Amino acid sequence: MSQIVVLNAGGQYCHLIARRVRELGVHASVADVAVDPSELRETGVRGIIVSGGPNSVRLDDSPRAQKGLYELGVPILGICYGHQMLALDLGGRVESGVAKEYGETELTLTSESDLFKGIAALNFIVWMSHGDTVVSMPPGFTRSGRTSDCEVAAMEDPVRRVYSVQFHPEVAHTQHGTKILERFVFDIAGCIPDWNPRNRVDELVGQIRRQAGDRGIFFLISGGIDSTVAFHLCLRALGPRQVRGLYVDTGFMRNSDTRDLMASFEGLEEDVIHTTDRSADFLSAIRDVVSPEGKRKIIGDLFMKVQGEEFARLNVGGEDWLIGQGTIYPDTIESGGTRHAARIKTHHNRVERVQQLIAEGRVIEPLAEFYKDEVRMLAEELRLPAEIVHKHPFPGPGLAVRCLCSDVSQPVTQMPNGMRSKCLSVDVEGWIVPVRTVGVQGDERSYAELAAIWLPRMDLPSSGTISRCITNEVRSVNRVTSVIYTRGGVGLDGFGIHPATLSKTRLEILRKADDIVTTVIRAEEWYRKIWQFPVALLPLGLSPKGETVVLRPVHSRDGMTADFVKLPDSIVEKIVSGISKIDGIDCVLYDVTNKPPATIELE
Ligand code: XMP
Repeated sequence: MSQIVVLNAGGQYCHLIARRVRELGVHASVADVAVDPSELRETGVRGIIVSGGPNSVRLDDSPRAQKGLYELGVPILGICYGHQMLALDLGGRVESGVAKEYGETELTLTSESDLFKGIAALNFIVWMSHGDTVVSMPPGFTRSGRTSDCEVAAMEDPVRRVYSVQFHPEVAHTQHGTKILERFVFDIAGCIPDWNPRNRVDELVGQIRRQAGDRGIFFLISGGIDSTVAFHLCLRALGPRQVRGLYVDTGFMRNSDTRDLMASFEGLEEDVIHTTDRSADFLSAIRDVVSPEGKRKIIGDLFMKVQGEEFARLNVGGEDWLIGQGTIYPDTIESGGTRHAARIKTHHNRVERVQQLIAEGRVIEPLAEFYKDEVRMLAEELRLPAEIVHKHPFPGPGLAVRCLCSDVSQPVTQMPNGMRSKCLSVDVEGWIVPVRTVGVQGDERSYAELAAIWLPRMDLPSSGTISRCITNEVRSVNRVTSVIYTRGGVGLDGFGIHPATLSKTRLEILRKADDIVTTVIRAEEWYRKIWQFPVALLPLGLSPKGETVVLRPVHSRDGMTADFVKLPDSIVEKIVSGISKIDGIDCVLYDVTNKPPATIELE
């Protein structure tokens, strides 16, 4: 029984809300927003939270709750889309395009509030991501907060115990976010602690045994923490006779990956882990593909084909075997795996063939409800080596997505005057790089342009401020980079994007750059301080062969939102000094964008 039920309207952060509640020590589960209210009553729910979502509540086919929800007498908290849905359902008004807010905004408390009780500050920073706005409140509601662009940023009717906020209290960037959730969960909904996120291994082992029964589990393992933990959980549950692992070398791994992977399976019986080198097949399949989605689909499908071939070779393809995957929760939600969520990118664990196998009940994903930091807790509980517990996430399609390709030749252009005058000071230069990368804006996927700025001296904090200004001003740009090295100059004048495929040579350049980064941050003890450090390659140079390396260190808690990391100058200098010596490198850029509006990966 869950004391708190989060109604999913499709927001990228829906499960984050449930997790935050669990972190408070209260069991929370997720249900569809249109769930039958009588089902909720039967579970004895004490509080309901309605999540955010990518749709406009004003559209006829947007996800809506059944009216009976408001008659349950259970306290309700609406967040973002949930705020707008409550307003509309209870007799208020919502409009589109009044003001759009993305990112951090200052909230001002406007009247005494039941929900904000205990927060001493009158103004604090909250995290917003919305296009629609509540313009008039339902009868009986009082406004409890506003921002400069949003008149009704929080409202409540303490008599009916209905509360709603336009911002996201579940996101780490919102000050007092935990306090607000605590107030709702404990004081308003009256929940009592009943949940401990630790010590989950035994429960998971039991679940795996129930699902697998006598069947074996065959795993595709990548060496990352997710598949390694899922694999070890299955081993713990079923023993080595029923579990097999296959490592497919796609040629898209980094220098140390294969080596680390094998080391982590040391001591296992010989026929538990199998390997196959299919790098030539993978490379030829996506050589000329530019679109990141295209690459992901082809790689995912080829994985399945290779897997099928290996099953046949190893004689494990029949009904007696399940396919094991290390899929974690964000992989499923960002692939549009829940009913109303927008598709940000296709995760390689969610291509069509896998979906079919899931429907046939042939896939086991022990970590599908977990977030990365929870997976690390499990890895510790399983006593896996420290290198695995602390390993940075690495996408399944690997360097293939980080190595950007192009089928056009196009020069870099000066930043338009409007953008320049709004966001750049006189001594800062700016360009638009004619290449698109994936981002996430207002809960939806974007594929937009890249801007580059040059400051007289490296100043990452100021670069971040400029970046926010640019991405807030123009939706056609979702990522901003700072130029930190160019061969023979200070900026990108004369640079251009040139046609480039995914070649062995380009992958090798990227692998070298990545290796330099990893070596420096490990030596300087920065590896464990940051969430992840993708390194990407752009076909951007002074000549048609010139390449650019982009550095993208980020802090994150769960991969859903992220801040770019401002590394100390001395470390950046060491990295640049190494990378600029690689043959063919014309430029090094530093990604100064948070997620949103960019994604963590640069693809
Ligand atoms: P984005 O780029 O969407 O990434 O902000 C969020 C987190 O997910 C990781 N990621 C993947 N992990 N297979 C994975 O196992 C994938 O295809 C994949 N794509 C992105 C990414 O590295 C980041 O940690």
